Amino acid sequence: MAKKRAVITGITGQDGSYLAEFLLEKDYEVFGLIRRSSTVNFERISHLQDKLELISGDLLDQKSLVTALQTAKPHEVYNLGAQSFVPASWEQPMLTGEITGLGVTRMLEAIRTTDEEIRFYQASTSELFGKAQETPQSETTPFYPRSPYGVSKLYAHWITINYRESFDMFACAGILFNHESPRRGLEFVTRKITHAVARIKHGIDEELRLGNLDARRDWGFAGDFVQAMWLMLQQDKPDDFVIATGETRTIREFCQVAFDRAGLDWENYVVVDERFFRPAEVNILLGDAAKASETLGWKPETSFEKMVQLMVDHDLEMVAKQSE
Ligand code: NAP
Ligand code: GDD
Repeated sequence: MAKKRAVITGITGQDGSYLAEFLLEKDYEVFGLIRRSSTVNFERISHLQDKLELISGDLLDQKSLVTALQTAKPHEVYNLGAQSFVPASWEQPMLTGEITGLGVTRMLEAIRTTDEEIRFYQASTSELFGKAQETPQSETTPFYPRSPYGVSKLYAHWITINYRESFDMFACAGILFNHESPRRGLEFVTRKITHAVARIKHGIDEELRLGNLDARRDWGFAGDFVQAMWLMLQQDKPDDFVIATGETRTIREFCQVAFDRAGLDWENYVVVDERFFRPAEVNILLGDAAKASETLGWKPETSFEKMVQLMVDHDLEMVAKQSE
């Protein structure tokens, strides 16, 4: 039987790399959309490079998306590409809207132009809930985004649903709560903490400066979450699903577990710095993934403690190597 083919946008990012591994294990032919830059940034996929087909393209450029789909002839498209860092969205709101919002319409139009049968996954987010109208949050909770990123993702979410309803496309949106890993970007709070733990342990840094320690997040492991993306596209009909662990913790609690892992007391090192507070905050995220559990049979496998342990251990080793 011919292999299934998938295109992943955002393949150089955290989720893209885990999803590529997952699909390769399922014997897919995997095509990754790569935007041109003056230096290569393939760290997260370098171990897969001989198994992947990389296609040049950008969510800002309609023609490149059409060409990518004509080249790959995919059965499935996973749209993970985005300007995904919330604070940057206040600094570059237009760019965020263009990539994270309108980029989705460009991809949906590219699908309509090439093959309407392509199944489409959109990376929606718990940031849609923002100033949460109820807790826990499920597929029926009203949205109230709190950043230009969240607002762009709201547009992306609804355009996905609109193309499904308007053109009968197999388009799904996964409303994923925060998910982390040793491959998380260094600017996101979890990796910022585990990386700082490693640098402090190795005597390179003396403190870690953070913003709001009281915000709560429902943190899962990225490797578990990409499986849910695939499951959504294997169903008989397209739908939207919340993917979450159902546990919520403060940034303070994350610090405690991460510093503990390295035998350090977080209170001796963490300094609150106003610079890292946001103009509008998302105070509490806690997801109810009952629908995904019932319909997709999806459940998270990696515990919070295990995930933090993976991240701290990875960073301790990485910093040790760097300082050799
Ligand atoms: P990430 O590590 O920041 O990766 C983002 C990816 O998007 C990178 O590969 C980046 O490419 C690519 N990208 C940026 N601008 C692009 C453009 N103009 N055209 C094509 N690609 C572009 O994000 P992630 O954590 O893997 O998240 C994946 C997706 O899920 C994102 O859409 C994010 O908003 C969403 N999401 C994430 C979470 C989470 O907790 N991680 C939760 C819910 C939803 P470069 O390497 O070239 O920069
Ligand atoms: N980044 C960062 N840096 N966040 C901090 C800091 C800091 O120094 N100090 C406190 N925080 C708090 C933020 O105020 C926020 O409440 C929380 O830590 C999490 O911030 P991030 O790790 O940057 O993630 P996020 O929740 O804003 O966004 C991530 O998750 C979304 C899903 O809910 C990103 O991956 C988004 O792309 C994703 O949609």
